[in-house]
Amino acid sequence: LSSAHPGARSTGAPLPVGFRKHDMSARRGELKAAYAIGEEEWEGLSASPLLLSLADVMVESAVGCIPIPLGIADGFLIDGEEVAIPMAVEEPSIIAAASFAAWLVRPDGGFTTWASAPRMTAQVFLEDVTEDGERRLAACEARVRSALAPMLSSLERRGGGFKELRVARLPGSGTVRADLVIDVRDAMGANRLNTAAERARPLLEAESGGRALMAILSNAAQDRLAGARFRIHADRLGIRLPPGMDGAEAARRVARASALAQEDPSRAVTHNKGIMNGISSLALATMNDTRAVEAAAHAWAAREGQYRGLSMFAVEGDTLSGELELPLALAVVGGSVDFHPAGRAGLAVLGAPDAPRLSRIAAALGLAQNFAALLALVTTGIQSGHMRYHAARLAYRAGARGQESRRVAASLEAAESADIEAARAVLAMLRGSAE
Ligand code: MEV
Repeated sequence: LSSAHPGARSTGAPLPVGFRKHDMSARRGELKAAYAIGEEEWEGLSASPLLLSLADVMVESAVGCIPIPLGIADGFLIDGEEVAIPMAVEEPSIIAAASFAAWLVRPDGGFTTWASAPRMTAQVFLEDVTEDGERRLAACEARVRSALAPMLSSLERRGGGFKELRVARLPGSGTVRADLVIDVRDAMGANRLNTAAERARPLLEAESGGRALMAILSNAAQDRLAGARFRIHADRLGIRLPPGMDGAEAARRVARASALAQEDPSRAVTHNKGIMNGISSLALATMNDTRAVEAAAHAWAAREGQYRGLSMFAVEGDTLSGELELPLALAVVGGSVDFHPAGRAGLAVLGAPDAPRLSRIAAALGLAQNFAALLALVTTGIQSGHMRYHAARLAYRAGARGQESRRVAASLEAAESADIEAARAVLAMLRGSAE
Protein backbone atom coordinates (compact mmCIF):
# COMPACT_ATOMS: atom_id res chain seq x y z
CA LEU A 1 0.00 0.00 0.00
CA SER A 2 1.38 3.40 -0.88
CA SER A 3 0.81 5.93 1.88
CA ALA A 4 -1.74 8.55 0.95
CA HIS A 5 -3.15 11.95 1.80
CA PRO A 6 -0.08 13.50 3.54
CA GLY A 7 -0.98 15.29 6.75
CA ALA A 8 -4.37 13.61 7.08
CA ARG A 9 -5.06 11.57 10.20
CA SER A 10 -6.55 8.12 9.81
CA THR A 11 -8.05 5.68 12.30
CA GLY A 12 -6.35 2.83 10.42
CA ALA A 13 -3.66 2.66 7.75
CA PRO A 14 -4.60 5.19 5.07
CA LEU A 15 -6.30 3.95 1.94
CA PRO A 16 -4.01 4.15 -1.06
CA VAL A 17 -4.25 7.10 -3.42
CA GLY A 18 -6.42 6.08 -6.35
CA PHE A 19 -8.46 3.73 -4.18
CA ARG A 20 -11.68 4.75 -5.92
CA LYS A 21 -10.15 3.99 -9.33
CA HIS A 22 -9.07 0.47 -8.43
CA ASP A 23 -11.29 -2.46 -9.27
CA MET A 24 -13.68 -3.75 -6.68
CA SER A 25 -11.72 -6.78 -5.51
CA ALA A 26 -8.59 -4.62 -5.12
CA ARG A 27 -10.60 -2.05 -3.15
CA ARG A 28 -11.96 -4.77 -0.88
CA GLY A 29 -8.44 -6.06 -0.22
CA GLU A 30 -7.16 -2.55 0.48
CA LEU A 31 -10.03 -1.87 2.87
CA LYS A 32 -9.47 -5.08 4.78
CA ALA A 33 -5.75 -4.38 5.05
CA ALA A 34 -6.29 -0.79 6.21
CA TYR A 35 -8.85 -1.28 8.97
CA ALA A 36 -9.36 -3.68 11.84
CA ILE A 37 -12.28 -5.60 10.32
CA GLY A 38 -12.67 -9.09 11.81
CA GLU A 39 -13.77 -12.17 9.83
CA GLU A 40 -17.39 -12.05 11.03
CA GLU A 41 -17.58 -8.31 10.39
CA TRP A 42 -16.09 -8.89 6.93
CA GLU A 43 -18.82 -11.40 6.23
CA GLY A 44 -21.29 -8.68 7.21
CA LEU A 45 -20.07 -6.62 4.24
CA SER A 46 -19.91 -9.49 1.79
CA ALA A 47 -22.45 -10.83 -0.65
CA SER A 48 -22.71 -13.11 -3.68
CA PRO A 49 -20.58 -12.26 -6.74
CA LEU A 50 -23.81 -11.12 -8.49
CA LEU A 51 -24.66 -8.64 -5.74
CA LEU A 52 -21.10 -7.39 -5.46
CA SER A 53 -20.94 -6.73 -9.18
CA LEU A 54 -24.29 -4.92 -8.99
CA ALA A 55 -23.01 -2.80 -6.09
CA ASP A 56 -20.01 -1.95 -8.23
CA VAL A 57 -22.14 -0.41 -10.99
CA MET A 58 -24.69 1.15 -8.64
CA VAL A 59 -22.38 3.26 -6.46
CA GLU A 60 -18.86 4.61 -6.59
CA SER A 61 -15.95 3.17 -4.58
CA ALA A 62 -18.11 0.15 -3.76
CA VAL A 63 -16.59 -2.32 -1.29
CA GLY A 64 -19.53 -4.56 -0.44
CA CYS A 65 -23.20 -4.75 0.48
CA ILE A 66 -24.99 -4.17 3.77
CA PRO A 67 -27.48 -6.99 4.31
CA ILE A 68 -30.56 -5.39 5.88
CA PRO A 69 -33.00 -8.06 7.16
CA LEU A 70 -36.03 -8.57 4.94
CA GLY A 71 -39.35 -9.79 6.36
CA ILE A 72 -42.91 -10.08 5.13
CA ALA A 73 -45.89 -8.42 6.85
CA ASP A 74 -48.98 -10.54 6.35
CA GLY A 75 -52.67 -10.08 7.12
CA PHE A 76 -53.17 -7.01 4.93
CA LEU A 77 -56.49 -6.56 3.19
CA ILE A 78 -56.18 -3.45 1.02
CA ASP A 79 -59.16 -2.37 -1.10
CA GLY A 80 -60.49 -5.90 -0.80
CA GLU A 81 -57.26 -7.54 -1.98
CA GLU A 82 -54.90 -9.69 0.03
CA VAL A 83 -51.34 -8.26 0.00
CA ALA A 84 -48.12 -9.62 1.49
CA ILE A 85 -45.77 -6.69 2.11
CA PRO A 86 -41.97 -7.01 1.99
CA MET A 87 -40.19 -4.85 4.55
CA ALA A 88 -36.43 -4.27 4.78
CA VAL A 89 -35.52 -2.94 8.21
CA GLU A 90 -32.97 -3.40 10.99
CA GLU A 91 -35.35 -2.69 13.91
CA PRO A 92 -37.13 -5.55 15.70
CA SER A 93 -40.90 -5.61 16.26
CA ILE A 94 -41.80 -3.37 13.31
CA ILE A 95 -42.93 -6.17 11.00
CA ALA A 96 -44.80 -7.97 13.80
CA ALA A 97 -46.56 -4.71 14.73
CA ALA A 98 -47.65 -4.02 11.13
CA SER A 99 -49.06 -7.53 10.79
CA PHE A 100 -50.78 -7.30 14.17
CA ALA A 101 -52.61 -4.13 13.09
CA ALA A 102 -53.47 -5.64 9.70
CA TRP A 103 -55.07 -8.71 11.32
CA LEU A 104 -56.88 -6.50 13.81
CA VAL A 105 -58.60 -4.28 11.22
CA ARG A 106 -59.21 -7.07 8.70
CA PRO A 107 -62.59 -8.30 10.05
CA ASP A 108 -63.95 -4.75 9.62
CA GLY A 109 -62.88 -4.62 5.95
CA GLY A 110 -59.19 -3.79 6.12
CA PHE A 111 -57.83 -0.65 4.48
CA THR A 112 -59.38 1.63 1.86
CA THR A 113 -56.80 3.59 -0.09
CA TRP A 114 -56.45 6.23 -2.81
CA ALA A 115 -53.70 7.87 -4.85
CA SER A 116 -53.55 10.88 -7.12
CA ALA A 117 -52.00 10.72 -10.59
CA PRO A 118 -48.21 10.38 -10.33
CA ARG A 119 -47.48 14.06 -11.03
CA MET A 120 -44.08 15.45 -10.16
CA THR A 121 -42.51 18.85 -10.62
CA ALA A 122 -39.27 19.88 -12.34
CA GLN A 123 -38.10 23.36 -11.41
CA VAL A 124 -36.04 26.05 -13.10
CA PHE A 125 -34.99 28.96 -10.86
CA LEU A 126 -34.47 32.20 -12.78
CA GLU A 127 -32.72 35.38 -11.63
CA ASP A 128 -33.10 38.93 -12.93
CA VAL A 129 -36.60 38.46 -14.32
CA THR A 130 -38.63 41.67 -14.77
CA GLU A 131 -42.39 41.77 -14.23
CA ASP A 132 -42.86 41.74 -18.01
CA GLY A 133 -40.55 38.75 -18.24
CA GLU A 134 -42.55 36.97 -15.59
CA ARG A 135 -45.77 37.59 -17.57
CA ARG A 136 -44.19 36.27 -20.79
CA LEU A 137 -42.97 33.23 -18.89
CA ALA A 138 -46.43 32.50 -17.50
CA ALA A 139 -47.82 32.62 -21.07
CA CYS A 140 -45.33 30.21 -22.70
CA GLU A 141 -46.85 26.88 -21.65
CA ALA A 142 -47.55 25.79 -25.24
CA ARG A 143 -43.94 26.41 -26.29
CA VAL A 144 -42.66 24.47 -23.27
CA ARG A 145 -44.99 21.63 -24.22
CA SER A 146 -43.58 21.54 -27.78
CA ALA A 147 -39.99 21.76 -26.56
CA LEU A 148 -40.51 18.80 -24.23
CA ALA A 149 -42.67 16.73 -26.63
CA PRO A 150 -39.83 14.66 -28.16
CA MET A 151 -38.39 13.57 -24.81
CA LEU A 152 -41.80 12.93 -23.24
CA SER A 153 -43.45 11.14 -26.18
CA SER A 154 -43.24 7.63 -24.65
CA LEU A 155 -44.77 8.95 -21.40
CA GLU A 156 -47.52 10.77 -23.40
CA ARG A 157 -48.40 7.52 -25.16
CA ARG A 158 -48.99 5.93 -21.73
CA GLY A 159 -51.19 8.79 -20.51
CA GLY A 160 -48.43 10.75 -18.78
CA GLY A 161 -46.22 13.59 -19.93
CA PHE A 162 -46.23 17.37 -19.57
CA LYS A 163 -49.33 18.70 -17.78
CA GLU A 164 -48.79 22.26 -16.69
CA LEU A 165 -46.42 25.23 -16.34
CA ARG A 166 -46.69 27.20 -13.10
CA VAL A 167 -44.74 30.38 -12.43
CA ALA A 168 -44.15 31.99 -9.04
CA ARG A 169 -41.89 34.74 -7.71
CA LEU A 170 -40.25 33.95 -4.35
CA PRO A 171 -40.98 36.93 -2.12
CA GLY A 172 -37.64 36.93 -0.25
CA SER A 173 -35.06 36.83 -3.06
CA GLY A 174 -37.30 37.82 -5.98
CA THR A 175 -36.14 34.68 -7.81
CA VAL A 176 -38.72 33.41 -10.30
CA ARG A 177 -39.49 29.70 -10.20
CA ALA A 178 -40.90 27.90 -13.23
CA ASP A 179 -42.54 24.60 -12.26
CA LEU A 180 -42.97 22.01 -15.00
CA VAL A 181 -45.61 19.56 -13.84
CA ILE A 182 -45.10 16.15 -15.45
CA ASP A 183 -47.02 12.90 -15.02
CA VAL A 184 -44.23 10.32 -14.71
CA ARG A 185 -46.52 7.23 -14.68
CA ASP A 186 -44.74 4.26 -13.04
CA ALA A 187 -41.37 5.91 -12.44
CA MET A 188 -40.16 8.03 -9.54
CA GLY A 189 -39.25 10.40 -12.35
CA ALA A 190 -36.04 12.02 -11.10
CA ASN A 191 -34.08 11.38 -14.28
CA ARG A 192 -36.87 12.40 -16.61
CA LEU A 193 -37.69 15.51 -14.58
CA ASN A 194 -34.08 16.67 -14.40
CA THR A 195 -33.68 16.16 -18.14
CA ALA A 196 -36.92 18.06 -18.79
CA ALA A 197 -35.84 20.95 -16.56
CA GLU A 198 -32.50 21.22 -18.37
CA ARG A 199 -34.16 20.90 -21.79
CA ALA A 200 -36.63 23.71 -20.98
CA ARG A 201 -34.03 25.93 -19.37
CA PRO A 202 -32.83 27.87 -22.51
CA LEU A 203 -36.42 28.45 -23.63
CA LEU A 204 -37.41 29.71 -20.18
CA GLU A 205 -34.39 32.01 -20.11
CA ALA A 206 -35.27 33.38 -23.55
CA GLU A 207 -38.96 33.92 -22.68
CA SER A 208 -38.28 35.54 -19.31
CA GLY A 209 -35.13 37.47 -20.20
CA GLY A 210 -33.64 36.13 -16.96
CA ARG A 211 -30.74 33.81 -16.20
CA ALA A 212 -31.28 30.31 -14.84
CA LEU A 213 -29.53 29.58 -11.57
CA MET A 214 -30.36 25.88 -11.55
CA ALA A 215 -32.73 23.25 -12.86
CA ILE A 216 -33.76 20.24 -10.76
CA LEU A 217 -36.80 18.24 -9.72
CA SER A 218 -38.62 19.04 -6.49
CA ASN A 219 -38.80 16.11 -4.09
CA ALA A 220 -41.78 17.70 -2.33
CA ALA A 221 -44.12 15.60 -4.50
CA GLN A 222 -47.12 17.52 -3.14
CA ASP A 223 -49.13 16.65 -6.29
CA ARG A 224 -48.47 12.93 -5.82
CA LEU A 225 -50.44 12.08 -2.70
CA ALA A 226 -51.59 8.71 -1.47
CA GLY A 227 -53.74 7.89 1.50
CA ALA A 228 -55.38 5.13 3.48
CA ARG A 229 -58.12 4.81 6.05
CA PHE A 230 -59.76 2.12 8.13
CA ARG A 231 -62.53 1.76 10.66
CA ILE A 232 -62.63 -0.72 13.50
CA HIS A 233 -65.19 -1.57 16.16
CA ALA A 234 -63.73 -0.46 19.47
CA ASP A 235 -64.62 -3.79 21.10
CA ARG A 236 -62.08 -5.48 18.82
CA LEU A 237 -59.39 -3.58 20.70
CA GLY A 238 -60.32 -5.45 23.86
CA ILE A 239 -57.43 -7.90 23.53
CA ARG A 240 -54.07 -7.44 25.31
CA LEU A 241 -55.40 -4.56 27.40
CA PRO A 242 -54.28 -3.76 30.94
CA PRO A 243 -56.75 -4.73 33.65
CA GLY A 244 -59.63 -2.29 33.95
CA MET A 245 -59.33 -0.90 30.39
CA ASP A 246 -61.91 -1.78 27.76
CA GLY A 247 -61.87 -1.36 23.97
CA ALA A 248 -63.77 1.94 24.09
CA GLU A 249 -61.19 3.44 26.44
CA ALA A 250 -58.31 2.12 24.30
CA ALA A 251 -59.96 3.73 21.23
CA ARG A 252 -60.34 7.04 23.07
CA ARG A 253 -56.70 6.94 24.10
CA VAL A 254 -55.49 6.21 20.53
CA ALA A 255 -57.49 9.21 19.25
CA ARG A 256 -56.06 11.41 22.03
CA ALA A 257 -52.53 10.27 21.17
CA SER A 258 -53.03 11.28 17.54
CA ALA A 259 -54.45 14.66 18.63
CA LEU A 260 -51.29 15.20 20.73
CA ALA A 261 -49.20 14.74 17.58
CA GLN A 262 -51.21 17.58 16.00
CA GLU A 263 -50.57 19.81 18.99
CA ASP A 264 -46.98 19.05 19.99
CA PRO A 265 -44.23 18.96 17.32
CA SER A 266 -41.83 17.02 19.57
CA ARG A 267 -44.37 14.20 19.82
CA ALA A 268 -45.28 14.55 16.12
CA VAL A 269 -41.70 13.65 15.11
CA THR A 270 -41.88 10.32 16.94
CA HIS A 271 -45.44 9.70 15.76
CA ASN A 272 -44.32 10.21 12.15
CA LYS A 273 -41.18 8.15 12.71
CA GLY A 274 -43.54 5.28 13.53
CA ILE A 275 -45.40 5.82 10.24
CA MET A 276 -42.13 5.92 8.31
CA ASN A 277 -41.01 2.69 10.01
CA GLY A 278 -43.49 1.04 7.68
CA ILE A 279 -43.20 3.22 4.60
CA SER A 280 -39.39 3.41 4.50
CA SER A 281 -39.08 -0.36 5.04
CA LEU A 282 -41.30 -0.99 2.03
CA ALA A 283 -39.46 1.68 0.02
CA LEU A 284 -36.15 -0.04 0.80
CA ALA A 285 -37.50 -3.53 0.08
CA THR A 286 -38.46 -2.32 -3.40
CA MET A 287 -35.19 -0.38 -3.86
CA ASN A 288 -37.00 2.95 -3.97
CA ASP A 289 -35.33 6.20 -2.93
CA THR A 290 -35.97 6.26 0.83
CA ARG A 291 -34.41 9.72 1.31
CA ALA A 292 -36.77 11.29 -1.21
CA VAL A 293 -39.80 9.64 0.39
CA GLU A 294 -38.72 10.72 3.89
CA ALA A 295 -37.94 14.33 2.87
CA ALA A 296 -41.32 14.70 1.18
CA ALA A 297 -43.20 13.22 4.14
CA HIS A 298 -41.60 15.53 6.68
CA ALA A 299 -42.04 18.62 4.50
CA TRP A 300 -45.72 17.68 4.11
CA ALA A 301 -46.02 17.30 7.89
CA ALA A 302 -44.85 20.91 8.26
CA ARG A 303 -46.84 22.38 5.35
CA GLU A 304 -48.95 24.62 7.62
CA GLY A 305 -45.89 26.11 9.28
CA GLN A 306 -45.98 23.75 12.28
CA TYR A 307 -44.70 20.18 12.13
CA ARG A 308 -47.67 17.88 12.83
CA GLY A 309 -48.57 14.20 12.89
CA LEU A 310 -49.36 12.85 9.41
CA SER A 311 -52.29 10.71 10.56
CA MET A 312 -55.47 11.30 12.54
CA PHE A 313 -57.64 8.94 14.58
CA ALA A 314 -61.17 9.68 15.73
CA VAL A 315 -63.89 7.93 17.71
CA GLU A 316 -67.47 8.00 16.45
CA GLY A 317 -69.92 6.03 18.51
CA ASP A 318 -68.45 2.57 18.97
CA THR A 319 -66.00 2.91 16.07
CA LEU A 320 -62.40 4.06 15.86
CA SER A 321 -61.27 5.40 12.49
CA GLY A 322 -57.77 6.19 11.31
CA GLU A 323 -56.61 8.11 8.27
CA LEU A 324 -53.25 8.98 6.73
CA GLU A 325 -52.38 10.96 3.60
CA LEU A 326 -48.94 12.05 2.43
CA PRO A 327 -46.82 12.51 -0.70
CA LEU A 328 -45.54 9.13 -1.89
CA ALA A 329 -43.28 9.15 -4.94
CA LEU A 330 -42.78 5.40 -5.13
CA ALA A 331 -41.81 3.79 -8.42
CA VAL A 332 -42.08 0.36 -9.97
CA VAL A 333 -39.76 1.07 -12.90
CA GLY A 334 -36.55 3.04 -13.33
CA GLY A 335 -33.80 3.90 -10.86
CA SER A 336 -32.69 0.84 -8.91
CA VAL A 337 -36.25 -0.50 -8.55
CA ASP A 338 -36.33 -2.78 -11.57
CA PHE A 339 -32.54 -2.86 -11.97
CA HIS A 340 -31.69 -4.61 -8.70
CA PRO A 341 -33.04 -8.16 -8.40
CA ALA A 342 -34.05 -7.50 -4.77
CA GLY A 343 -36.29 -4.66 -5.95
CA ARG A 344 -37.84 -6.93 -8.57
CA ALA A 345 -38.40 -9.65 -5.96
CA GLY A 346 -40.12 -7.14 -3.68
CA LEU A 347 -42.46 -6.10 -6.47
CA ALA A 348 -43.20 -9.75 -7.29
CA VAL A 349 -44.29 -10.37 -3.66
CA LEU A 350 -46.57 -7.33 -3.94
CA GLY A 351 -48.21 -8.79 -7.07
CA ALA A 352 -46.52 -6.46 -9.60
CA PRO A 353 -48.43 -3.27 -8.69
CA ASP A 354 -48.32 -0.09 -10.76
CA ALA A 355 -46.82 2.98 -9.06
CA PRO A 356 -50.10 4.40 -7.65
CA ARG A 357 -51.00 0.98 -6.23
CA LEU A 358 -47.57 0.69 -4.59
CA SER A 359 -48.09 4.13 -3.03
CA ARG A 360 -51.51 3.09 -1.77
CA ILE A 361 -50.06 -0.06 -0.21
CA ALA A 362 -47.37 2.10 1.43
CA ALA A 363 -50.01 4.42 2.86
CA ALA A 364 -51.94 1.45 4.32
CA LEU A 365 -48.73 0.04 5.78
CA GLY A 366 -47.76 3.40 7.31
CA LEU A 367 -51.20 3.70 8.89
CA ALA A 368 -51.09 0.12 10.21
CA GLN A 369 -47.65 0.72 11.69
CA ASN A 370 -48.81 3.93 13.35
CA PHE A 371 -51.98 2.33 14.70
CA ALA A 372 -50.05 -0.59 16.20
CA ALA A 373 -47.57 1.79 17.84
CA LEU A 374 -50.25 4.09 19.29
CA LEU A 375 -52.36 1.19 20.54
CA ALA A 376 -49.35 -0.34 22.30
CA LEU A 377 -48.23 3.02 23.71
CA VAL A 378 -51.60 3.93 25.23
CA THR A 379 -52.29 0.45 26.61
CA THR A 380 -49.47 -1.90 27.61
CA GLY A 381 -46.49 0.21 26.47
CA ILE A 382 -44.02 -1.04 23.87
CA GLN A 383 -41.28 -2.41 26.14
CA SER A 384 -43.00 -5.71 26.97
CA GLY A 385 -43.02 -6.63 23.26
CA HIS A 386 -39.40 -5.61 22.95
CA MET A 387 -38.30 -8.07 25.66
CA ARG A 388 -38.96 -10.92 23.22
CA TYR A 389 -36.47 -9.46 20.72
CA HIS A 390 -33.92 -8.71 23.41
CA ALA A 391 -34.15 -12.36 24.51
CA ALA A 392 -33.71 -13.58 20.92
CA ARG A 393 -30.55 -11.49 20.52
CA LEU A 394 -29.14 -12.76 23.83
CA ALA A 395 -29.81 -16.33 22.72
CA TYR A 396 -27.97 -15.66 19.44
CA ARG A 397 -25.01 -14.11 21.27
CA ALA A 398 -24.84 -17.17 23.51
CA GLY A 399 -24.42 -19.34 20.39
CA ALA A 400 -27.97 -20.58 19.79
CA ARG A 401 -29.15 -20.79 16.19
CA GLY A 402 -32.46 -21.45 14.39
CA GLN A 403 -35.17 -23.22 16.44
CA GLU A 404 -32.72 -23.56 19.31
CA SER A 405 -32.47 -19.79 19.62
CA ARG A 406 -36.26 -19.52 19.79
CA ARG A 407 -36.39 -22.05 22.62
CA VAL A 408 -33.62 -20.28 24.56
CA ALA A 409 -35.39 -16.93 24.00
CA ALA A 410 -38.70 -18.35 25.27
CA SER A 411 -37.06 -19.54 28.51
CA LEU A 412 -35.31 -16.19 28.95
CA GLU A 413 -38.54 -14.32 28.39
CA ALA A 414 -40.22 -16.31 31.13
CA ALA A 415 -37.34 -15.63 33.55
CA GLU A 416 -37.33 -12.56 35.80
CA SER A 417 -34.06 -11.20 34.43
CA ALA A 418 -32.15 -12.19 31.33
CA ASP A 419 -28.48 -11.67 30.59
CA ILE A 420 -25.82 -13.40 28.52
CA GLU A 421 -24.86 -15.74 31.41
CA ALA A 422 -28.47 -16.84 31.78
CA ALA A 423 -28.68 -17.38 28.01
CA ARG A 424 -25.52 -19.55 28.05
CA ALA A 425 -26.87 -21.57 30.98
CA VAL A 426 -30.22 -22.19 29.25
CA LEU A 427 -28.46 -23.17 26.04
CA ALA A 428 -26.15 -25.61 27.85
CA MET A 429 -29.14 -27.13 29.61
CA LEU A 430 -31.04 -27.52 26.35
CA ARG A 431 -28.10 -29.12 24.61
CA GLY A 432 -27.47 -31.36 27.64
CA SER A 433 -31.04 -32.61 27.70
CA ALA A 434 -30.95 -33.16 23.90
CA GLU A 435 -27.96 -35.56 24.20
C1 MEV B 1 -40.44 3.10 17.34
O1 MEV B 1 -39.61 2.73 16.26
C2 MEV B 1 -41.65 3.86 16.87
C3 MEV B 1 -42.53 4.48 17.97
O2 MEV B 1 -41.74 5.30 18.82
C4 MEV B 1 -43.58 5.29 17.27
C5 MEV B 1 -44.45 6.14 18.19
O3 MEV B 1 -43.98 6.51 19.28
O4 MEV B 1 -45.58 6.45 17.77
C6 MEV B 1 -43.13 3.40 18.84
